[in-house]
Amino acid sequence: MQDADRRLSADDWDELHFPRPEENDFDRVVESAISRRGFLGGVLAFGSGAAAMGAGLLGAASARAMETSRFAFTPIAAQTDGTVHVPEGYGWKVLMRWGDPLFSEADGYDITDGGPVENSDKVFGENTDGMETFSFQGRQLIAVNHEYPNEDINLPASQDGKPVSADDVLKLQNIQGVTVMEIAEGPDGWNVVKDSPFNRRIHHNTPMKIVGPAAGHDLLRTEADPTGTSSLGTFNNCGSGKTPWGTYLTCEENFNGYFGSTDEAASHDEKVAAGFARYGIKAKSWNGYEGFDPRFDTSKNPNEPHRAGWIVEIDPTDPQSTPVKHTGLGRFKHENAEVVLARDGRVVVYMGDDERGEYLYKFVSNGTYQPGAETEGLLNDGTLYVARFNDDLTGQWLPLTPETTGMEAAEILIFTRMAASKAGGTTMDRPEWVAASPVAAEAYCCLTNNKNRGVKPNAGGDDTSANGPNPRDTNRYGQIVRWRPADEDHAADDFDWDLYVMAGNPTVHADAYAGSDNMNEGNLFNSPDGMAIDSTGLVWIQTDGDDENQGDFAGNGNNQMLVGDPVTGEIVRFMTGPNGCEVTGLAWSSDLRTMFVGIQHPGSNWPDGGTPRSAIIAIKRDDNALIG
Ligand code: FEO
Ligand code: CA
Ligand code: CA
Repeated sequence: MQDADRRLSADDWDELHFPRPEENDFDRVVESAISRRGFLGGVLAFGSGAAAMGAGLLGAASARAMETSRFAFTPIAAQTDGTVHVPEGYGWKVLMRWGDPLFSEADGYDITDGGPVENSDKVFGENTDGMETFSFQGRQLIAVNHEYPNEDINLPASQDGKPVSADDVLKLQNIQGVTVMEIAEGPDGWNVVKDSPFNRRIHHNTPMKIVGPAAGHDLLRTEADPTGTSSLGTFNNCGSGKTPWGTYLTCEENFNGYFGSTDEAASHDEKVAAGFARYGIKAKSWNGYEGFDPRFDTSKNPNEPHRAGWIVEIDPTDPQSTPVKHTGLGRFKHENAEVVLARDGRVVVYMGDDERGEYLYKFVSNGTYQPGAETEGLLNDGTLYVARFNDDLTGQWLPLTPETTGMEAAEILIFTRMAASKAGGTTMDRPEWVAASPVAAEAYCCLTNNKNRGVKPNAGGDDTSANGPNPRDTNRYGQIVRWRPADEDHAADDFDWDLYVMAGNPTVHADAYAGSDNMNEGNLFNSPDGMAIDSTGLVWIQTDGDDENQGDFAGNGNNQMLVGDPVTGEIVRFMTGPNGCEVTGLAWSSDLRTMFVGIQHPGSNWPDGGTPRSAIIAIKRDDNALIG
């Protein structure tokens, strides 16, 4: 190497001496994504696929969109303060905060000292995330996730919020998981129905069933459960889903952080060790659970982490029901579960694995959903696929089978990441929520950001050079990819795709980091994460990004919720959260006159001026008109 090359990294040296061609197919994909004109051209380029978008919607809506905006409000400006903002003509109110009682016996639960361990499983949990609403016997139910604790707030007496006793651990375990609760709207707005028979907390010690093709496998067996079919607790419950038969799906994301080892010299067999490496299970857990609860100690229970990382089904209408972990949906860092029906009634579940350079998946059931008929097996008896995106705007769902992966069927489900690598999926920029349109055969996935894109491979060693839907190295802004299944059928193997938006900052950059043409000074955002599509087809986007409002992120303000027109690509800002927060979780009341939105880990003293408290807010129009 010559002197002039000395300060270059190996990657830079490679690029200098073996440069990529000036322009290739991949560059043209980026170009078409950046230019809205090119993007709309891209829509036309779908050709026969244009029909797959729902010709009625595309034709009618695009004509309408040219004349008038589909948004019923005046977009708001970015904000940097400590409260929530919504457009003129709308209002918001806190529905539930961490620590609010679900039952009278928890009245007086005081969070100023972190809350007593007694009754900590009878109050609304911490860090609200994915949620879904259910209408049952004329009642309005909500199931909602509590993703992780804010230890310094939850355990204020402990240094840095680290548990110092089994009670501290139990308190943290009790305030995570899932809440099911009944709510009702009265003259003062929405409130929880305290002591409703439907109110329920599901946490880190709630008994669960494990079902599906991997249930009972050796890798799922422990001393406490030699059958490998029952476990305790659900962990790091991030996004959500809802089945056509009225159950709630909660998605276990960063489950790895709950397990550690009290014996750092402990060794594991090759398969277990490889799984720990790929899934990030380390010697120390986040909160030291392993020191107080041997279940989380991998030196004693090396298979326990295999019993987390699943999608869990909960019946919100039956408080006595046992939650079910579905191994058929694979094991990874599940973001959410978007359930749609194929044309023939098969159940399709879209799922992202939120880790840099991991994959996007779908499951297709063998059986079909028939209203009122038995649904058992529909989320397990089927095929799991990983997405491959080609640079020419086409893609395929690659089945994960013993033939395509060289792995046995149950191990494909337990070590799904390895199976996806072997099948040749496309490494993605952290797939967060997937949302499917109720009015067109298309689905969207937020790819939140990926500082490792083009920098280093994923934990499985897979190449993460820039590719079609993940076109920017060291991607700090994120993008939303959209696909349209062949024949308007979500069960189809093939799809066409485009980028709905590439977030960026056109006030700071003039290159690809300016983002696509539907980014502008009025809607700056970064790191799209939560997403839901309303009954009219509008795409609601929530952010979990850099809110320092400077440098690359100047003008972005606090994390926020925006809404996009799927046809024109126009995106406008609807809501801003208090500084420090992430906006996550979105569901509508059954009458569509209220939107419930989650405010997670607010950094200010929101909402009461005292201890910051994650909370669900209810947003309504002042005229009580439909809101989604
Ligand atoms: Fe829990 Fe990937 O967000
Ligand atoms: Ca998320
Ligand atoms: Ca996120």
